[in-house]
Amino acid sequence: MRPTTLDAGSIRLRPFRGSDIDWLYRVSLDPGLRRYIDLPSPYRRSDAADFVERVTVEGWANGTRAEFLTEDAATGCRLGRVGLHLRDDRTAEIGYWAAPEARARGVTSGAVAAVCRWAFAEAGIDLIEWRAEVGNHASRRVAEKVGFHIEGVLRQRLRHGTERADAWVGSLLPAEVTAPAPSRGSWPETASAQPWPAWCGETASSDATGRTTAADDGPS
Ligand SMILES: CC(C)(COP(=O)(O)OP(=O)(O)OC[C@H]1O[C@@H](n2cnc3c(N)ncnc32)[C@H](O)[C@@H]1OP(=O)(O)O)[C@@H](O)C(=O)NCCC(=O)NCCS
Repeated sequence: MRPTTLDAGSIRLRPFRGSDIDWLYRVSLDPGLRRYIDLPSPYRRSDAADFVERVTVEGWANGTRAEFLTEDAATGCRLGRVGLHLRDDRTAEIGYWAAPEARARGVTSGAVAAVCRWAFAEAGIDLIEWRAEVGNHASRRVAEKVGFHIEGVLRQRLRHGTERADAWVGSLLPAEVTAPAPSRGSWPETASAQPWPAWCGETASSDATGRTTAADDGPS
């Protein structure tokens, strides 16, 4: 499968690049993310490099994973990640997170809606499944805003380190994808009122037009 870039208004979804590794490493150390995402522990920079340089590249190449980095379309500021595990039976499971500084602005719900639309229209997917640990209300809210039907609880279906946890499960069909309503922290209005903090300037890899710079070229 060909690595794809999706334009979704004020955000863009693109394949990961080598120059994203340091950012991915930093965000992956966030306790709020690690609470719900099962990552190697301790998490090292080499884990981030392996994800960017091997997992995402192989996933696109063999059609089993479509991994997108979410960035601000205007500045290239990195905001989060949306990934799909694509299965042989034309279903996929979605996963996502946002950098701590980017949360509650509608970034993830907008990004998830765009990826789901693409999966149905371009990747031959008939149904997308969502699972989250019971109690992960922010994740559930994103799924609901995009149109997922919450179907119930699967007992002990998630693994987190050595522990297991009950999972909420939901699914989305092509006709159900909804344009998410703005968040309470509403995107992009809040972003324009409150410019992204310094971490964006330090790590952003695109110029003001959204074009990537030569130094940004890396595995994708
Ligand atoms: C879940 C997560 C991806 C949401 O990203 P985001 O960019 O903040 O999402 P959005 O801004 O698009 O929407 C978040 C919604 O959840 C709501 N929300 C946030 N925290 C909440 C909480 N504790 N309880 C209930 N709702 C909550 C927000 O108010 C918003 O809903 P609204 O638009 O109706 O106000 C982000 O919180 C995150 O990265 N969490 C850690 C990793 C994770 O849990 N990933 C999902 C694993 S299944």
